[in-house]
Amino acid sequence: MSSTCVAIVTPNASLTIMLLPSLTLCFLFLCLIYYLLSRAFLTGSRSLPLPPGTMGWPYIGETLQLYSNNPNSFFALKQKRYGPIFKTHILGCPCVMVSSPEAARFVLVTRAHLFKPTFPASKERMLGPQAIFFQQGDYHARLRRLVLRALMPDAIRSSVAGIEAAALRALRSWDGRFVNTFHEMKTYAFNVALLSIFGNDEICYIEDLKQCYYTLEKGYNSMPVNLPGTLFYKAMKARKQLAQIVAKIVSSRRTQWKTEANGLLGSFMEATEALTDDQIADNIIGVIFAARDTTASVLTWIVKYLGDNPGILRAVTEEQEEIMRSKDGKSLTWADTKRMPLTSRVIQETMRVASVLSFTFREAVEDVEYEGYLIPKGWKVLPLFRNIHHSPDNFADPENFDPSRFEVAPKPNTFMPFGNGSHSCPGNELAKLEMLVLLHHLTTKYRWSMVGCQSGIQFGPFVLPLNGLPLRFSLKSPVEGHPA
Ligand code: HEM
Repeated sequence: MSSTCVAIVTPNASLTIMLLPSLTLCFLFLCLIYYLLSRAFLTGSRSLPLPPGTMGWPYIGETLQLYSNNPNSFFALKQKRYGPIFKTHILGCPCVMVSSPEAARFVLVTRAHLFKPTFPASKERMLGPQAIFFQQGDYHARLRRLVLRALMPDAIRSSVAGIEAAALRALRSWDGRFVNTFHEMKTYAFNVALLSIFGNDEICYIEDLKQCYYTLEKGYNSMPVNLPGTLFYKAMKARKQLAQIVAKIVSSRRTQWKTEANGLLGSFMEATEALTDDQIADNIIGVIFAARDTTASVLTWIVKYLGDNPGILRAVTEEQEEIMRSKDGKSLTWADTKRMPLTSRVIQETMRVASVLSFTFREAVEDVEYEGYLIPKGWKVLPLFRNIHHSPDNFADPENFDPSRFEVAPKPNTFMPFGNGSHSCPGNELAKLEMLVLLHHLTTKYRWSMVGCQSGIQFGPFVLPLNGLPLRFSLKSPVEGHPA
């Protein structure tokens, strides 16, 4: 058997040896064609260079470098090495990252139509495909009008009393306890979001809404495997239940003819521009998602920075005590929240230093040229807010927490905690309001201390003080402050 084989193999082998040079040439020729075609595909007829940078390993790119350490160090290092625009490859996608105010404005404002918002498909499914974040054009403009109508200053000024009640409830529940600050701030921000969506109605549905939302949240960052038992599966089920609860509320409002503008839901149901039930559910779930962890992480950082800077805490407390004395026990009003300049600067400086949303995602809808570089169609584009907020060109001594820097307005397009352009945050006034109200009562009535010495930060996905900042809060004695 083996000798037969040798007899058959030998002529074939010699044929192969004879053909080897031509086969090699063929192979090299094909490689050259492939290289030229892929370059032509990437750079188009204009043959512009791609931005500088490295793409890492096939498929995984530089994802490990990004997440094995502090992602912000990855961005800072790349910027130092390659300048304000560079390419990389993360989470299976080729990306261009931009870290100058001008480039961020180009992507988010002046050429926003060339860059569409983009999320992984699994996240889009979970939040709701008709939610505002994923839209462009007429439908997006219509949604934005409806959201802004419910969240602009004139609409929210009457919510101060409700927000104050939520703040006082939260603070009372922390008194004498050792709490995870981020966790508690999430509950507060959730309650304020529900108030701004439903007003004071629908109390009977609130607990069910919360339970479903917590399940959805647990699965949001899990592997998108939709099989019974997985976190993702449970989250998708909870998402369906959330939509059903919202549909029940909508239907009960319709039967009671309560469709006038009242909170965000009222705005969505208002007759002339009413949305469908699915559109309403997607957008209500989306707004809760946008409102809660963002505000809660900024509040957590404020408590941390105030604790680390006793002089600033004293000055904020004095500003708030002055307002409290003038109120003589009466509730806060919208006008009172406009008399808190130092506290407002503390909020601004916290949003700059912490930059809880370090960046956002867009996708180029066609080949785009920027500063002589090509941003190819389909590539992700990430404006890096944090790099802009931490650049010494934009903010002197950027690592230093110094609220007084906001006594002078920052240079245009250098301060973007709420984004920029047509997708910028429509909830920014509400976020500032709820932070001011909570800080008023926190600084005038409570003190807090850290348990053990814990410093450090965590990512997941928001930047947070380590372990969510565990603290013990207690009511000040009557001599120190004015008890609640
Ligand atoms: C301190 C708290 C908050 C921060 C730092 C924040 C930050 C942001 C940023 C940076 C964007 C733009 C994202 C992008 O361009 O891709 C955004 C969008 C958005 N935010 Fe906020 N946000 C906060 C609170 C809120 C609140 C309280 C609400 C609602 C009650 C809200 C609702 C939204 C919505 C609906 C969008 C999407 C707008 C659109 O796509 O047109 N946010 N937010």
